[in-house]
Amino acid sequence: MRSAWPSSLAVAALWASRFVFARMPYKVQTPPLDTDWTYTVGTDPWPEHPRPQLRREAWQSLNGLWTWRAAASPDDVGSPPKAGPLDREVMVPSCIESGLSGLQILNVRDMWYETTFDVPSDWKGQQVLLNFEAVDYEATVFVNGVEKTSHVGGYARFTINVTDIVKFGGTNDLLVFVSDPTDAIVIPVGKQTLNPSHIFYRSCSGIWQQVWIESAPEDHISRLDVAADMDGLMTVNVLSSVHKGAKVEVKVFGQNGSEIASQTGSADEQFAFTVENPDLWWPDSPTLYNLTVTLGDDEVNSYTGFRTVFKGKVEGVMRHLLNGEFVFQFGTLDQGYWPDGLHTPPSREAMVYDLQVLKNFGMNMLRKHIKIEPDLFYEACDRMGLLVIQDMPALSASKTPNDEEQAEFQRQLELMINEHKSYPSIYSWVIYNEGWGQRHSDPAPEGGLTEVIRKLDPTRLINSISGWDDHGYGDYHDNHNYAHPQCGTPFYSRPKTPYDPERIGFQGEYGGIGHNVSIEHMWNVQAAINTIPETYEINEDLASYSYRSMVLFRDLREQTERYACSGAVYTQTTDVEGEVNGLLTYDRRFMRPDLEQWQEDIQSLYEAAVSRGGRPVGSGKVKNWVCVHLWRGSCVIDAPIEQAALLRHNTMQRLQATRPRSSMSSKMTS
Ligand SMILES: *[C@@H]1O[C@H](CO)[C@@H](O)[C@H](O)[C@H]1NC(C)=O
Ligand SMILES: *[C@@H]1O[C@H](CO)[C@@H](O)[C@H](O)[C@H]1NC(C)=O
Ligand SMILES: *[C@@H]1O[C@H](CO)[C@@H](O)[C@H](O)[C@H]1NC(C)=O
Ligand SMILES: *[C@@H]1O[C@H](CO)[C@@H](O)[C@H](O)[C@H]1NC(C)=O
Repeated sequence: MRSAWPSSLAVAALWASRFVFARMPYKVQTPPLDTDWTYTVGTDPWPEHPRPQLRREAWQSLNGLWTWRAAASPDDVGSPPKAGPLDREVMVPSCIESGLSGLQILNVRDMWYETTFDVPSDWKGQQVLLNFEAVDYEATVFVNGVEKTSHVGGYARFTINVTDIVKFGGTNDLLVFVSDPTDAIVIPVGKQTLNPSHIFYRSCSGIWQQVWIESAPEDHISRLDVAADMDGLMTVNVLSSVHKGAKVEVKVFGQNGSEIASQTGSADEQFAFTVENPDLWWPDSPTLYNLTVTLGDDEVNSYTGFRTVFKGKVEGVMRHLLNGEFVFQFGTLDQGYWPDGLHTPPSREAMVYDLQVLKNFGMNMLRKHIKIEPDLFYEACDRMGLLVIQDMPALSASKTPNDEEQAEFQRQLELMINEHKSYPSIYSWVIYNEGWGQRHSDPAPEGGLTEVIRKLDPTRLINSISGWDDHGYGDYHDNHNYAHPQCGTPFYSRPKTPYDPERIGFQGEYGGIGHNVSIEHMWNVQAAINTIPETYEINEDLASYSYRSMVLFRDLREQTERYACSGAVYTQTTDVEGEVNGLLTYDRRFMRPDLEQWQEDIQSLYEAAVSRGGRPVGSGKVKNWVCVHLWRGSCVIDAPIEQAALLRHNTMQRLQATRPRSSMSSKMTS
């Protein structure tokens, strides 16, 4: 008690001094390689609403320039931070290791962030929710000097109710302590490391996705799960913040903006209803429907797409089926790294640029590789028609988790599924990549995890093991091989087991053929340049690159015609650091493939699949359709005559089905 006055006076003086302290102003730091977006981002990054499937009118972005400093010592805790004011400007969102952050600082584990924000006076009477889309790795949040919450996990969002602590019509202080123990403990990190080499890259720490506030009634929608299937069946679960079982209403809007269906139900209880005759979501016609959902005074906008994912035998071969049809999947291994932003794309436009490149090649899928993107990424895939194979960010590749770390891996896996299961483009979940962080226990860890995912999300397929230590779990038998594919073939390297005909034959990675363009397009870090020779295959010139890619396409095409190949993932969208095997260089300024040759080769893969009963690409709705499903006297689902029998058997769950070879399809390949 005796010393309380002087010390709190000292703290108050320190607190006040923060506002006059000379801070180092923000400036983009020159990254080892830039992009066309680096110097156009400015200081108002990511102005878009960050949650496309849960949008309210009243919201404000807190992105922009904040202050930052590294924590001085283990005693530098609490609010205000003991070691004094934050003296550098930083851009939020960003990784502190990136040029765009304005810091480009490596090897800082503990750090402070601070900003101020105004809460509009007309939000008074409502709740104020403070949202963080992702902070890597652990965050402790103080508002107006009061500790509000701690959050663990570098890829998940969190929301804090700050109603009781904020000044309406006034300025509020937001202080965040972040700790990122990459490489120190076994946690989901994907490819991040403090010692980058070959396929492991510079780590990302800090507030790397958007921060924002919104206003909502006390009883509001805290989560919205929507699944819509090919029969028009919509399954909805509206989670409420306070009153379990409150009345909710869902409205569905058609393409011309008019309401086409509505249904009431109770919050926190799943309910279902049918929308008549919806246009289905396909990669080549990705139709989406807008939704509004109300709970009391709360109204949110969202959207969905009608599609069903399951597996079944087509002409005797196990296939993944989209809306009852075998759609051959071809796309890239998509790391989502940027030379100027690392995990944070410079802007939405830059992020979507990569997706447009893939679409332009004629790809219909990407494998989002051991990283989770901002929600706007999945929205873009929904709108553009790109199927997403979503990986769980791997635990450190070289370490084995203990019981506690394994439990945390599972907790974060469940968060990933629950946060993303309403995006129609996400097609399958990958638990483990190439054995990274996979325990060698009996029973194998992916068995239990596969069951966990099935319960959380019965509307997708599960690729339990992409490459390597396969024990027969999940829907896929996924081979990784460089450079040549071994897709559903009787010859194999990894996994070290023969192709399993009861699962879907898939090439989760192959290709990776490289070409050393020039220093201008290179991540100019000597350690990275030194690992270029580790690229799976280097081509001396682009003529050789084109020849080799053509040979790999021929392999894949023949494996599709002859064996049980249902899709393949080519490594990779872009170069990353010392890896020089992208379609694009890391700066996105140079494209290696001969675009027309690749477009033709990719189409020929789909045609090879058509010869085995696959869906013709771009066919849309064509001749000889019959009604498959009647609902209240009208046709809800129609389909090509030769598929009608299959579709009639369809349920939302997976089923084993066979369907006759389509006469229309075989014509296309003869
Ligand atoms: C948010 O906090 C306020 C003030 O403490 C409280 O009255 C309200 O019930 C909280 N809202 C929710 C959804 O818990
Ligand atoms: C909008 O489309 C629906 C069918 O989806 C149709 O019934 C309705 O008449 C259309 N409304 C307008 C204004 O065009
Ligand atoms: C769906 O909602 C989005 C976002 O509000 C809007 O831009 C779009 O025009 C809407 N589409 C239709 C068909 O109403
Ligand atoms: C690739 O190119 C860079 C820059 O020209 C050069 O420094 C490096 O040695 C080359 N590496 C290989 C393996 O060709």
